[in-house]
Amino acid sequence: MPITPQQLIERKQQGIAIVALTAYDYVSAKLLDRAGVDLLLVGDSLGMVVLGYETTLPLTLDEMIHHAKAVRRGIEKALMVVDLPFLTYQESFQQAMHSAGRILKETGAQAVKLEGGYPEIAETVRRLVLAGIPVLGHVGLTPQSVHQLGYRKQGKTPETSDRIFKEAVALQEAGAFAVVLEHIPSKLAAEISKTLVIPTIGIGAGVHCDGQVLVTHDLLGMTDRVPPFAKRYANLQETITQAVQAYGEDVRDRRFPPD
Ligand code: KIV
Ligand code: NA
Repeated sequence: MPITPQQLIERKQQGIAIVALTAYDYVSAKLLDRAGVDLLLVGDSLGMVVLGYETTLPLTLDEMIHHAKAVRRGIEKALMVVDLPFLTYQESFQQAMHSAGRILKETGAQAVKLEGGYPEIAETVRRLVLAGIPVLGHVGLTPQSVHQLGYRKQGKTPETSDRIFKEAVALQEAGAFAVVLEHIPSKLAAEISKTLVIPTIGIGAGVHCDGQVLVTHDLLGMTDRVPPFAKRYANLQETITQAVQAYGEDVRDRRFPPD
């Protein structure tokens, strides 16, 4: 049985940290699921990490669904969440319902994530939840607003930190089962985590969140630029380069294949 949103809320009550990562295809989803990750997010970072776009903005709903279907085939245990791409939910409630509905029906994901919180987005979340669609919120640095925010840390002034706090509370009241806190001061994330009943999942938001998420390709050392808060647990760029160079030398020297 896959992990449910309700089980993540129970983990917070039990004080067990939630382990989350991104996945974009079948083979990586299978590896991450077997390694015991609780929540696999098909993030719209897909657009940058795997499809090579400059930002997350160009990613389409069809591209997202194509990859999410592959991820689904690789997961047995983890809770599967899919990001709603830029401008597939902001236009109207109908648009949000249509996009989230397509994701659940066509990919088999259990939940969707969308960026922002207050007040229009919270109302969208409320309607999705009423329709039976579990929603993961996302506040702080929201990369779909890169042209307004850049990739800078958010919530550094009293005004912005107050706004982010209120957005997180509004998302909980709207029925979100958890909230991603991206690139905000650790102290603010700690306050939000203490106030909310639902879990917070941090990325660049300090150790006091109820769980952590990273972009898998950053953790594995497959990306050129990693955000300051990411930690590289492996250097697959190096491993892959060495393996491919060894193969190239073997082919050129006629050592592979064997006679
Ligand atoms: O798209 C993504 O990878 C995300 C996570 C970093 C939270 O939204
Ligand atoms: Na995202």
